[in-house]
Amino acid sequence: AGCGKKEEAAAPAAAPAAAPAQDKLKIGFMYVSPIGDGGWTYQHDLGRKAIQEKYGDRIETSFVESVPESADAERVMRDMAGQGNKLIFATSFGYQEFVQKVAADLKDVKFEHATGYKQADNVATYDTKTFEGAYLAGIVAGGMTKTKMVGVVASVPIPEVVRNINSFVLGAQSVDPSIKAKVVWVNEWFSPPKEAEAATSLINGGVDVMYQNTNSLAVLKTAEERGARAFGKDGDMSAFAPKAHLGSAVIDWTPYYSKVVEDTLGGNWQGGNFWWGVKEGAIDLLKIADDVPQEIKDRVAKARDGLKDGSFAVWTGPIQDNTGKELLAAGQKGDDKFLTGINFFVNGIEGRVPG
Ligand code: GUN
Repeated sequence: AGCGKKEEAAAPAAAPAAAPAQDKLKIGFMYVSPIGDGGWTYQHDLGRKAIQEKYGDRIETSFVESVPESADAERVMRDMAGQGNKLIFATSFGYQEFVQKVAADLKDVKFEHATGYKQADNVATYDTKTFEGAYLAGIVAGGMTKTKMVGVVASVPIPEVVRNINSFVLGAQSVDPSIKAKVVWVNEWFSPPKEAEAATSLINGGVDVMYQNTNSLAVLKTAEERGARAFGKDGDMSAFAPKAHLGSAVIDWTPYYSKVVEDTLGGNWQGGNFWWGVKEGAIDLLKIADDVPQEIKDRVAKARDGLKDGSFAVWTGPIQDNTGKELLAAGQKGDDKFLTGINFFVNGIEGRVPG
């Protein structure tokens, strides 16, 4: 070691000092499932790649995948901060308490928590109006179901997921009010075997068109094997089930991720809560199957246009829960407070939201 030191000391004094490390903004992404899930996480990672491409050498992004919603999440975020990341995207609901804890300690790091509701000076929350995509998919389901029984493979019982289930069914019932629905919970975001099992039980129960709020391709693939129909969710899943695929409700995180990077690079990171939908280009139903009747495609287009120009809202009364209680009167629109508190099933869905 002494020798090495001497050598260093002997280096010419005139050697130019290393250029100051470029002030790159380091950004870490924490994912709950693998980037190869084809859905939720795959789509977040497309957003990451898009900003890396767009902002080039001004930023340096990295990710850690398959991080459980547990103390592991806290460890991963502290590690990311230790490596110099000044902006951290935590992309699943169950990270909420860990984000709050780490953010309270690390005030010079900005946190972006997807689908959460707790903000702080250095914690923003953001989500996409996935329920608008679910509604558009529901319209297609309503036009395609022959058994008049649609189904949803559900992940974890939080308002976001319950809202998506209901919105899918409201879309289907906008085509045919007599349509009924079944829901099976897997209590995980990503478990292909459990998702496939849930899909199978829905089909065995008379469901012929399915939606899901889980992250994998399993529901769509099960539909493909069993001759049922289903949708891609979060990502474009059309390539994985050419016969079963009816359309994909695809999220585009890029507009929001670009905004956050832009703000942060300019020293203008603001925090708050951001909830973008069809109007902001954050979600749309893409790749609608060829065998969907034109009349149904037109209904989708009309709803999409209405969401874009604000003339239509998915949660417009009359809406009743499945005990007959009126929750929105005719013409009444659910505001954000209503939407974020949905903990009931609409009329036509079997069962109760797990309490
Ligand atoms: N997949 C993993 N986490 C989430 C989440 O918080 N919301 C949704 N929609 N999907 C997820």
